[in-house]
Formats: sequence, structure tokens, C-alpha cells
Amino acid sequence: MVLEDHFGRKVTNLRLSITPRCNLDCYYCHAEGEVQPREELSIEEIREILRVGAKFGIRSVKLTGGEPLLRKDILDIIRAVPDGIEVSLTTNGTLLEGLAHDLKAAGLSRVNVSLDTLRPERYREITKRDLLDRVVRGIRAAMDAGLTPVKLNMVLLKDVNEDEIDDFLAYVRDTDDLILQVIELMEFNECTLHGDVDRLEREIAEHSKEILTRRMHHRKKYCMDGAEVEVVRPLHNTEFCAYCNRLRVTSDGYLKPCLLRADNHVDIRGKHGEELEALFMQAVQSREPFFK
Ligand code: 5AD
Repeated sequence: MVLEDHFGRKVTNLRLSITPRCNLDCYYCHAEGEVQPREELSIEEIREILRVGAKFGIRSVKLTGGEPLLRKDILDIIRAVPDGIEVSLTTNGTLLEGLAHDLKAAGLSRVNVSLDTLRPERYREITKRDLLDRVVRGIRAAMDAGLTPVKLNMVLLKDVNEDEIDDFLAYVRDTDDLILQVIELMEFNECTLHGDVDRLEREIAEHSKEILTRRMHHRKKYCMDGAEVEVVRPLHNTEFCAYCNRLRVTSDGYLKPCLLRADNHVDIRGKHGEELEALFMQAVQSREPFFK
């Protein structure tokens, strides 16, 4: 059984938020579109969601939050992902150092680390915490544990970190298996500091020897003197929607067919077996390309 929507898009990736909690407080954060969450999904509920996902041919699972490493049962959650499904995780990196090895042993394949600046003062302004050193050590630990490639998620913010691209490129270039992912800001919390992703992408393209289009086509991968860079454009890239293969699950038990919409969530709390399977299909059928 496969999940396919009315536009021929197959859903092969589950993006599972396992907590709304976070130990940082970034002013632009979209918190994966979560609002007033109910209680977090239990490990049993997660197991059942994954079982249904596997039945529908889901091939990869991304664990997100909030900050997923705040879950005390994070290793059990990773172990609960059925064989044959790749599991990765997006983290702010503050708790990675002590966990990287165990995460790998539990079956995690790789991590994305959200990191918008390499400067301590700016890091404090963005996140309200003084934890940049810990994040950098966490990235190192993830590399050493083989959670690779490690992708750095950098949201481009006007007058905040646009001047750090060269520093990020140097960091990525000096470290094997590190990839820079520049992300276009989605307006949230009234944060309108949109960095100029257009200009940046033009500059990167000009200076790249190699431009690879990824399998899913919705993302270009550039190579600048050995530094690998991807540009993610959820808003000004209709291809982001055209090639979307994701179904989201909120930490409190709703299927969320589109990151950018909150009007078509499907409640799966307390549902299992055939009933849950039917709700998966219903959610996928309601998927529409989003054009603002
Ligand atoms: N716009 C774009 N990206 C965002 N992220 C969080 N909030 C926003 C936003 N408003 C990014 C984080 C994280 C990724 C999953 O989403 O940097 O790495």
C-alpha cells in the first residue's frame, strides 16, 4: 500500500514531532506549526503510528520538536522505528555531546543541527542562551559518532547573520561530511527579518563548479571549493510543494498534511488499527499544493 495524493505526490517521509518543548527561545521559530499542544504522544502511540507508516511504505522518518533530545525516552523512540526505515533527527545540538554515541547505537542515521550563527554574542541574542560552545562540541560528537552527513540548518536573517556565509562555508569546508543548509525564513512570531535568499543563491550558483540537482528535484545542491551547500525555499519555491513527499505528525497527535496550513489537521489521538490507517489516507487525500 502506498500513500498518494490527488496530485500524484507519493508520501514516503514522516516528520514526527515528539515534543513541543525546547530549551532555547528563538524569536523566529515556527515550532513546526504547533499550537497549544495537548499531551505528548506516548511511546506506544508513536509505535502504532510507525507501524501504520511502515505498512504504507514510509521510507524515512525525521524526528523533530521542539527539541527532540529533551524526551527522556528518545533512545526507545529511535529503536521503535521499524527496520528498513531510515531515521534522522533535527536538533538544536545543545544536548548532542552526551548523546551522540547512544543515538547512533540506537539506530539513528544522521542529524540536522539548527545553527544560525557562529558568534557567541549573536547566538545569545537569537536563542536567549549562552550555549554556542556546547552546540559546536555536539556537532563534533555527532561527526565522531558517524551521524553523518551532519547538516547545519541556518535560517537566513536580514541584518543578523547574512554576513556569516563565508564563515559557515569555511567551517563546512574544514570539516568532512558537514553540509550547510540555508533556509528561507517563514514569517512567524511577527519576525520579518527575511534574508535575501535570492541574491545568496545567485552568488552561490556563480561560484560553484558543480551544481547537482537532488533526486527529489526540489533542492539544488551546490559545491563551492569543497563546501557543500543546499538552499531550502519553502515559500518562493513552488517546487517545495510540487515535490513534497512529507506527512507531518504533531507532538500531540494530529496528522498535519502541510507545514504551511493549520486548517486541515487530522486528529489521531487514541486511534489505532484500521481506523488509524483510514485517517492516514484521509489526511493524504486532503493534501493540496500551497500557493500564497
Ligand atoms: N522559518 C524557517 N525555518 C525555520 N526553522 C524554525 N523556524 C523557522 C522559520 N520561521 C527551522 C529551524 C530548524 C528547521 C527544522 O526549521 O532552523 O532547523
